Amino acid sequence: MMRLPANKIVTCSSMSFLRAVFMVACICMFIEPHYVISTMLRFNTKGEFKILQVADMHYANGKSTACLDVLPNQVEGCSDLNTTAFIERMIKAEKPDLIVFTGDNIMGIDVDDSAKSLDLAFAPAVASSIPWAAVLGNHDQEGTLSREEVMKHTVSMKNTLSLLNPPHADKIDGFGNYNLEVAGVHGSPLQNRSVLNLYLLDSGDYSTVPSVLGYGWIKTSQQSWFLHISRRLKKAYMSHPEAQKESAPGLVFFHIPLPEFASFDSSNFTGVKQEGISSPTVNSGFFTTMVEAGDVKAVFVGHDHKNDFCGELMDIHLCYGGGFGYHAYGKAGWARRARVVKVSLEKTVKGEWGPVMSIKTWKRLDDAHLSTIDDQILWSKDTAGKLLQTA
Ligand SMILES: *[C@@H]1O[C@H](CO)[C@@H](O)[C@H](O)[C@H]1NC(C)=O
Ligand SMILES: *[C@@H]1O[C@H](CO)[C@@H](O)[C@H](O)[C@H]1NC(C)=O
Ligand SMILES: *[C@@H]1O[C@H](CO)[C@@H](O)[C@H](O)[C@H]1NC(C)=O
Repeated sequence: MMRLPANKIVTCSSMSFLRAVFMVACICMFIEPHYVISTMLRFNTKGEFKILQVADMHYANGKSTACLDVLPNQVEGCSDLNTTAFIERMIKAEKPDLIVFTGDNIMGIDVDDSAKSLDLAFAPAVASSIPWAAVLGNHDQEGTLSREEVMKHTVSMKNTLSLLNPPHADKIDGFGNYNLEVAGVHGSPLQNRSVLNLYLLDSGDYSTVPSVLGYGWIKTSQQSWFLHISRRLKKAYMSHPEAQKESAPGLVFFHIPLPEFASFDSSNFTGVKQEGISSPTVNSGFFTTMVEAGDVKAVFVGHDHKNDFCGELMDIHLCYGGGFGYHAYGKAGWARRARVVKVSLEKTVKGEWGPVMSIKTWKRLDDAHLSTIDDQILWSKDTAGKLLQTA
């Protein structure tokens, strides 16, 4: 190369420096002009966001569908309409910001028309105008619609945030894998940030591998998608403006419990275990994937109607919702129930709403007073990292 006079070199490098600055600015503007939040979910002006989990409605045809496992004197006049009435009461009592249905929303083998059954099952949520989201269980597809069709019908309903699968995602197993972002309080510094992340996944129905019996599992493709989203959200949350020190807390919802749900007994869980843990017989590693991701604070499943506990393993709470539906098996005399999760924000020193401060949960029974039981704190900013501090 020809040697250039000194002044020429200076000019050239200043020009390329300016051009580099300009290009970086352009690229930044192109990728992230502002972190724009993609959903309508948001913490309210009291800094709270409340989720109602409805597990295992097992809805069939409505009034003509009998209740299972109720006391002899409760059999008469008991039907799917009692499940409907229970959701309506729960919505009225708790006024949730989001309702999440964690699968077996309909009992496929007993329905005459799956689309109609789905319409009846979700009707109270639709009528409430509260955003709602649903995932598949292992019984939803046993009627007149396949898993894909059940999810497609669900996605087409009013007020739902359910999605068939993530947009732009490469092939992913199952139907109804998606995430929802909950923005900070309107007018606060985190109003354009997702301060709480919800992940919803399809835990499948039954194994399709001949050598493996039993239930389905969360596949590698779904775990890769989850990790990708978790990392993307973390990066966005920890970048300017208002860069945070760590990921926003995550909550995960699906149907079939992970094998790790068997890690507890009554000495270290809150709630009850009245039947075995019906997990897949293989461990596909989703628990480990969540531990690695680092943002997930709690997992909420259904499937085992007579279990309703929450236990903590490696800083992740594993929680059952407890059986909700009257056409689902249960235990006579043991009330149908629902789980509520309340997430609260902290106030910054400037008196503005900031990031998540605590995640609490309790259950409500379908009795005369919708009794509240098993109130507990799943996570709070003060206790997070407690092991590190005492080490
Ligand atoms: C079902 O609903 C009917 C009508 O409201 C009511 O009389 C009955 O007690 C309910 N059954 C149960 C088990 O809650
Ligand atoms: C949030 O986004 C809105 C609309 O783009 C913008 O007007 C506002 O300044 C942003 N607020 C913050 C705190 O980033
Ligand atoms: C719960 O306690 C039992 C012993 O009672 C123990 O075997 C188990 O490892 C504990 N589980 C956790 C997650 O600490």
